Amino acid sequence: MRISIIGCGYVGLVTGACLAEAGHEVVCTDNDAAKIGLLNAGKIPIYEPHLDELVARNRKEGRLSFTDDAPKAVRSGNAVFICVGTPPLENGDADLSAIDAVARVIATESESSKLVVEKSTVPVQTGQQLRQALAVYGRKSGVSFRIASNPEFLREGTGVEDFLHPDRIVVGVDDAETERELREIYQPILDGSFNCPVHSPNCPAAAEPHFVVTTINSAELIKHASNSFLAVKISYANALADMCERLGANVEEVTRAMGLDPRIRPEFLRAGLGFGGFCLPKDIQAFIRLAERAGMDFALLKEAEQINKQRIDRFLEKARKSLWVVKKKKIGMLGLAFKPNTDDIRFAPAIEMIRRLLAEGASISAYDPAAMDRTRAIFPDITYSRDPYEVAKGADALLVVTEWEEFRGLDWERVYDSMARPLLIDGRNLLDPARMAKLGFEYHSFGRPE
Ligand code: UGA
Repeated sequence: MRISIIGCGYVGLVTGACLAEAGHEVVCTDNDAAKIGLLNAGKIPIYEPHLDELVARNRKEGRLSFTDDAPKAVRSGNAVFICVGTPPLENGDADLSAIDAVARVIATESESSKLVVEKSTVPVQTGQQLRQALAVYGRKSGVSFRIASNPEFLREGTGVEDFLHPDRIVVGVDDAETERELREIYQPILDGSFNCPVHSPNCPAAAEPHFVVTTINSAELIKHASNSFLAVKISYANALADMCERLGANVEEVTRAMGLDPRIRPEFLRAGLGFGGFCLPKDIQAFIRLAERAGMDFALLKEAEQINKQRIDRFLEKARKSLWVVKKKKIGMLGLAFKPNTDDIRFAPAIEMIRRLLAEGASISAYDPAAMDRTRAIFPDITYSRDPYEVAKGADALLVVTEWEEFRGLDWERVYDSMARPLLIDGRNLLDPARMAKLGFEYHSFGRPE
């Protein structure tokens, strides 16, 4: 099958590379010509494990190409996947202007009928608007368009693995032909007939992914409903952590036992600094707005969002309580990305934290294995260190902000020795409180006895 991918962000690149790996002929485009230049020079503009290998192999074998000529890319595919961003507007609604712009290009540039697939996260009923836009702008082209919604459930940092080994593939369609075509696109994924870059030599045995066929409206809703539910689960764990602190229980013991109930499951019950990134925070907001427009007050989601916003306050309160005066203190930050294994800092707690600490007059040094360049673009004047030990040197407090695995294995005795004051505040419950106390740290984390 010939496939066009519009938008080369996390979703578009992973989708394009994985569909090429599945044997399709894929052309990707983006309106950022510099990004396309990088890709054509064999470079990957984002940090995403295994993506480089997939892109290189499929380019070499002639199944994957990149162009900044969007009309050409659109014309080359029988199916066009829309993978552009839908960032939040000031009022929390999703900004659909990029989808609208792409719809116009598809409508006016197509020379043959096409299947147009929404992969971007969009509010329910966007498919109807898309159909309308394609029809009116394409009225002179004489070609017809079929629409489908095919939401992505890719986590950053494990995007390639999630695409090649999904638990479900959701397709929202209106007709049997579209369902057949999407099945054909995904059949190699369902069969496991690709060279998996994640597992070698063989992928672990797993059940075939569910291929879930729904209406377009339901498919769109499934995406927002899933992300919002995950956000609620995290906020529930964080509220529990606050309760554990007040009542002398241990949130890890509580959530572990809760998670053993198969109706609850252990995932997304990790307490800490809360959810960030470009998906959960914007999707919960968009879902709240969607409910409002449908005449419903989804107060549960509002509360989950509120609990999440308070995580940084709670964290900085811990720092303030110990430091007494923040002004002129040297504060070290371990981690900037919104979670490990990504360089993404969008809606990362670290960003808001730096802003507030700078406003209080602290001096900040930071280290992150992947996200320092992106952070430097926002805060050019804080100190970026070569490694975690340099961050710790002479610091009055060390904050663990992202749970990169390398932080767990640091020589914590060396860290202790080099700090001006051994104050360690662990925003991700990454470290063992007993061990840290034994080393002599003043150690604080979320919801665990000190
Ligand atoms: C999320 C969803 O997990 C994907 O299924 C979805 O496709 C994607 O959004 C999207 O809409 O594109 P992602 O944003 O990559 O993926 O990040 P997650 O791994 O879901 O983590 C989200 C945030 O929750 C992170 O800040 C993480 O630190 C936090 N988190 C996660 C917790 O605080 N506690 C947990 O127990 C789990």
